[in-house]
Amino acid sequence: MKFWPEQSPLFPERATEIAREVDAIYFFGLGIATIFSLLIAVLVVYFAVRYRRRHPDEVGEREQAPAWLELVWSIIPLGILLVMFAWGADVFFKARRAPADAVEYYVTGKQWMWKFQHPQGAREINDLHVPVGVPVKLIMTSEDVIHSFWVPEFRVKMDVLPGRYTTLWFEVDRPGIYRIFCNEYCGVEHSLMRGSVIAMEPADYEEWLGGGQPLTALTRTGEQVFAEKTCNTCHKDEAAALGPSLTGLFGTEREFQDGSRTIADENYIRQSILEPRAHLVMGYQALMPTFQGQVDEEELTLLINYIKSLQD
Ligand code: CUA
Repeated sequence: MKFWPEQSPLFPERATEIAREVDAIYFFGLGIATIFSLLIAVLVVYFAVRYRRRHPDEVGEREQAPAWLELVWSIIPLGILLVMFAWGADVFFKARRAPADAVEYYVTGKQWMWKFQHPQGAREINDLHVPVGVPVKLIMTSEDVIHSFWVPEFRVKMDVLPGRYTTLWFEVDRPGIYRIFCNEYCGVEHSLMRGSVIAMEPADYEEWLGGGQPLTALTRTGEQVFAEKTCNTCHKDEAAALGPSLTGLFGTEREFQDGSRTIADENYIRQSILEPRAHLVMGYQALMPTFQGQVDEEELTLLINYIKSLQD
């Protein structure tokens, strides 16, 4: 939908399809609000004049609105609101659910910078290079306080919390430099916690990456951390292993001893490393020590990414 200019001095540029959809619903809501505000203002003036008191001793009469009129002014606004609700829910789910083929990048916020980790291993601070036309999913956490990742040109924003992962996704339309803002007050240099998404043609992105680390660097380092922390002594693919096998774990449903179930996502793996006794997998004992304070955010990211890579 393009019935207004892509660029105007009043609004940030739209660099994603979601940005266009968010603006469409925004302008629809604004339009409805304007129409009803004008309608009410005009009627207030019209009725004030039309039904003004003409003689000092004139007394008003009580009039009952007919049932059809009551119905009309109830059903029309209800219809409009339901349209806004359904439309808004549709755009919300599109904006919140990353496509299955999205490429995953890790983001860590800290006072007062953004740290990025590419799936291919490259790392950056405050700048994030991404290819255009590719859905990018950010898996984000914070090392200290609450931050919020916001790119106005993409019309997406998500809080970045210590102790858990939140996600956000976008697919940039065209090459450009788009500003990142921290949108949650996080200390004296909050306003300086800025960065840029640098969207490049896929070929340029590959070339840019070429200057970085080899493609398997991230997964390999995760494997090293897995061995350094001796995770592999219990989590191995053997029937007699003390811990459950992690192969093919990611994205599957886990069943616990208390009968509850959950899907093994990033937050589940994170909690299992830091608070292993929170959920005991069926058939295993509470043998695993906590790794709280023994792995930092970066090691956690590497471990999670390694465990995700363990497929059959
Ligand atoms: Cu980080 Cu505000």
